[in-house]
Amino acid sequence: MKKIAEVKQPMIGLYHLPVVLVTCCDEEGRPNIIPIGWVGGVCSNPPQVGIAVRPRRFSYKLIERMGQFVVNIPEERLLDVVDKTGFSSGGKVDKFEKFGLTPLPASKVKPPLIEECSVNLECLVRHALNLGSHTFFVGEIVAVHADEEILKENGEIDYTRLKPIVLKHDEYCGMTLPLGWYGFTKYKKRVVNEVY
Ligand SMILES: Cc1cc2nc3c(=O)[nH]c(=O)nc-3n(C[C@H](O)[C@H](O)[C@H](O)COP(=O)(O)O)c2cc1C
Repeated sequence: MKKIAEVKQPMIGLYHLPVVLVTCCDEEGRPNIIPIGWVGGVCSNPPQVGIAVRPRRFSYKLIERMGQFVVNIPEERLLDVVDKTGFSSGGKVDKFEKFGLTPLPASKVKPPLIEECSVNLECLVRHALNLGSHTFFVGEIVAVHADEEILKENGEIDYTRLKPIVLKHDEYCGMTLPLGWYGFTKYKKRVVNEVY
């Protein structure tokens, strides 16, 4: 196949993004929610996750000041809420109240979990890297919560039962059809996934 040398100017060519709802709060515990597409696991030990946030977001100041956030994984059934929370600001509305979500106390950080999200990762900010248009907050995961229904018998999260949302450029998609498992070209059986 012929490769076109330069499609356009340099840009983010990676546009299939998992979408999460990040919660944060102020000193009085007033919570806010921001959907984030630029998110990813960045280190397994200690476990860390990174989120890229524009400084002009209301949530940015809360995360910067408090040094804490929670990554909540929404599933397909929450698609409306994901989009709506991205087009309103916590500086003007209480998004929990407006969009009918339930805040639950976290165990180790101040921002609340979102009850309606099946998995919740409590994070303490370890690094804040100013990259230009966005700041990359790296949070150490200090506690993980999950809905009972998606747990396996051994207590681990069964990710095959999750229906997360992916943003492909400007289109939300589901990703429920499994294509293969990690290491299937090398091993006969599934391998533990903490290896990468
Ligand atoms: C699906 C989706 C993904 C988004 N991803 C990001 C992101 O990665 N970083 C960011 O700064 N804003 C992102 N936004 C925009 C913010 O969520 C949006 O500006 C939001 O209203 C900010 O809320 P706040 O003012 O309460 O902080 C995204 C919005 C949507 C709908």
